Amino acid sequence: MAIGMDKRMSKKPTKKATKTSRISGFHALDRLDRLDAVAAFSGLNNKTRNQFRNTGNLPEDLTGRLIENVIGTMNVPVGIATNMIVDGEEVLVPMATEESSVVAAVCNAARQCRNTGGITASTSGAHMIAQIQLVDVSDPQAARLKILERKSEISAICDEADPILIGLGGGFRDLEVRVLETQGGPMVITHLIVDTRDAMGANAVNTMAERLAPHIARWTNGTTYLRILSNLADRRLARARAVWKPSAIAVKGISGKKVRDGMMAAYHFAAADPWRATTHNKGIMNGISAVTLATGNDTRAIEAGAHAFAAISGQYSPLTRWEVDKDGNLVGTLEMPLALGIIGGATKAHPTARACLEIMGVETAEKLQRITAAVGLCQNFAALKALATVGVQKGHMALHAQNIALMAGAKGAEIDQIALKMTQKGSVRLDVAESELKLLRSKKI
Ligand code: MEV
Repeated sequence: MAIGMDKRMSKKPTKKATKTSRISGFHALDRLDRLDAVAAFSGLNNKTRNQFRNTGNLPEDLTGRLIENVIGTMNVPVGIATNMIVDGEEVLVPMATEESSVVAAVCNAARQCRNTGGITASTSGAHMIAQIQLVDVSDPQAARLKILERKSEISAICDEADPILIGLGGGFRDLEVRVLETQGGPMVITHLIVDTRDAMGANAVNTMAERLAPHIARWTNGTTYLRILSNLADRRLARARAVWKPSAIAVKGISGKKVRDGMMAAYHFAAADPWRATTHNKGIMNGISAVTLATGNDTRAIEAGAHAFAAISGQYSPLTRWEVDKDGNLVGTLEMPLALGIIGGATKAHPTARACLEIMGVETAEKLQRITAAVGLCQNFAALKALATVGVQKGHMALHAQNIALMAGAKGAEIDQIALKMTQKGSVRLDVAESELKLLRSKKI
């Protein structure tokens, strides 16, 4: 029995046995002992238990250094987006995603703008914001000015907190202080604006905020509570733009101009309607999150920043904009926060993340931001084009059908045969896959 395991868990759970999720010392167990404890608790058979045995391309010792209570890993496929030209450079982009059609969509979109030079991208810099919350001040306006008066002192306190960042050319850049009216009374919110260079920057700015907070409390006679970065990284924007000629975007039976006009109508719909804008942006994030995950970056930080930025005008809006230029070409632009780093955390520690950065030839966070923004724009182009023409199901279903065939138990060449049968029939369902598989195998006997 694994150390620290509850005695009751070594027995196969019966209906009457009391199961407890209070597993004392669980965190201190070896990974496989933890797995045994979980298997006993949940009554896993050996096959299911062994699903977690292998940690795939993540070294076993690293798994436990990245997160706590590890029992295994969850592998996601990494696909390569081809055809990309970003700022004149040919790049291959690794994308980690479980969703079919996402990688193929970027490849198609990128191919169709190669004849206009591909995607041009830029960034606004690598400035992150840390927030310090100050309460219990009876004179919040005066407190605000007292903080602003200390700007050079604040700059020194922040920079002293991270000499390595200073050595790399980053550090404190600016100070903003606002009085915020809240349900709990006025609060004074300090924003530290910090250049975090190639780091995502959470650790750097959080440390600075924590070091500075007691000084703010002392200067103002107030109480500081929260000291944390803002994921609304609106000082760290990435931008991408590209031009698609109507001749490059025509599809079978639909002229390029008609495709373009359909895509414009799709964009106008999203710009006017938050329900549609949400799905529009979800499609953009299919690409953005896939590159974020492949490079070991924080997908939740990127998602939170993206959606907050999409709502910054007061109406949730698309992260892309689409126009038609004077020559009748379709012009797409994307602008959104992308707080991506290439040093620190999983980005540096995860060997697959490092390999993905190498594939792209990424040596600065700024380049990673530009490439990722380009992927987001291409992803949106492909979604709008599919939606305005044949619909997404056609392309999606081919891959989806293979997944369903696999689920039905098809093996090897059977997978493609069953998938084809289902798409020909126009019904991609598990029951159809199962009966087609039965039929196929009965013919072979
Ligand atoms: C599906 O993952 C993404 C789309 O719904 C995006 C969109 O509707 O724009 C196709």
